[in-house]
Amino acid sequence: MSGHGEAQPMTARKSGPLSGTAAVPGDKSISHRALIFGAMAVGETKITGLLEGQDVLDTAKAMRAFGAEVTRHGLGDWSVHGVGVGGFREPADVIDCGNSGTGVRLIMGTMATTAMTATFTGDASLRKRPMGRVTDPLSLFGTRAYGRQGGRLPMTVVGAANPVPVRYALPVASAQVKSAVLLAGLNAPGETVVIEREPTRDHSERMLLGFGAELHVEKGTEGHIITLKGRPELRPQSVAVPRDPSSAAFPVCAALIVEGSDILVPGVSQNLTRNGLYITLVEMGARIDFQNPREEGGEPVADLRVRFSDQMQGIEVPPERAPSMIDEYPILSVVAAFASGKTVMKGVKELRVKESDRIDAMARGLEACGVRIEEDEDTLIVYGMGAGGMPGGATAATHLDHRIARSFLGAGLAAQKPVSVDDASPILTSFPIFEGLMQTLGATLERG
Ligand code: S3P
Repeated sequence: MSGHGEAQPMTARKSGPLSGTAAVPGDKSISHRALIFGAMAVGETKITGLLEGQDVLDTAKAMRAFGAEVTRHGLGDWSVHGVGVGGFREPADVIDCGNSGTGVRLIMGTMATTAMTATFTGDASLRKRPMGRVTDPLSLFGTRAYGRQGGRLPMTVVGAANPVPVRYALPVASAQVKSAVLLAGLNAPGETVVIEREPTRDHSERMLLGFGAELHVEKGTEGHIITLKGRPELRPQSVAVPRDPSSAAFPVCAALIVEGSDILVPGVSQNLTRNGLYITLVEMGARIDFQNPREEGGEPVADLRVRFSDQMQGIEVPPERAPSMIDEYPILSVVAAFASGKTVMKGVKELRVKESDRIDAMARGLEACGVRIEEDEDTLIVYGMGAGGMPGGATAATHLDHRIARSFLGAGLAAQKPVSVDDASPILTSFPIFEGLMQTLGATLERG
């Protein structure tokens, strides 16, 4: 769990050129799924490159509580002895998913169509986030859920003893909701259908196919129609987790704004449902070379050579790109502050229900650093101050949000005066080696 210890302030100071190789850890989305799908397969799934961030560790613990045998053999090297679809046992205690929306929502889906009751909770951030977006579609299977006002955790979920398959059109572009419904559909007879208007990250679909589920995706006028046949026997797999493109975003963006930088970030996913930030940066004039394109762990990847870019221009980011870069808006708004002209981010209201209200957290922190911001419910506009132009000299509140913490530390590496964050501890939820890795590249990050 995160957010239960003491706050750990951290400060970033203007740094010399960043150089070297930034090998970021495994993908968070794929790591959660490797553990969960492994737990639903019959036999032993082997995982390499698993992200050992707290979010994923909490999911590993939850899978044990539901009866799977989860073993760590070495760094990133894990195995899961699964119990089969519908084979979960009722957990003896409350499931604490810490800071992780992905963890809790996917696990709720996984147990929703098995006759058992489980109670979920999380840290102060997760207990504020809406769960109705998952429990509403799960109720169509026959699942019941009892939470706090507004569908908040703690929440008790009563799995459907006789689930029926569902057809559900996603009202929000959310891979977590899509995945929760597909996971529930695994233990329902017949075909479960999920329709998404805008494509969101497709790791669940890719991995379900890999684990032997019968699933197909059609493109229709309503969007993507995903059909899953219930009650398959999932076959255990060897999963090689590729590096996390959302973690790679931090060294990449830091190198773009720190004068003289030239770094290599290997194995960054170019999956079209994840690479929106990289498209946007190139449109802004970022100097990024995409080298050595290949497949790794079933994902298209490239090595990124990233150089300081003092000619970046603000742009309007198309709203339809939001699902493929949803976690990257905080760090993009930092890059935008070092570009010339304004960057307009529209269609981003989902940012308000992440680990924190990310529009508000970025707007307040950037304003404190001397940047002009405009916002409304669904929009964030950053007025760029050009390379080296951000005054800095402020402390940003991170609100238990790992991406907000890393974004402001990134800003501090290039701002005129240091930038601090009130609490860097949430960084451990998704990128435990961030501090050391950035220091190796030449970043000045100090505790306190
Ligand atoms: C995730 C989906 C996204 C993303 C989160 C990981 C996933 O959330 O923000 O960090 O692994 O499915 P939403 O599905 O709520 O947009």
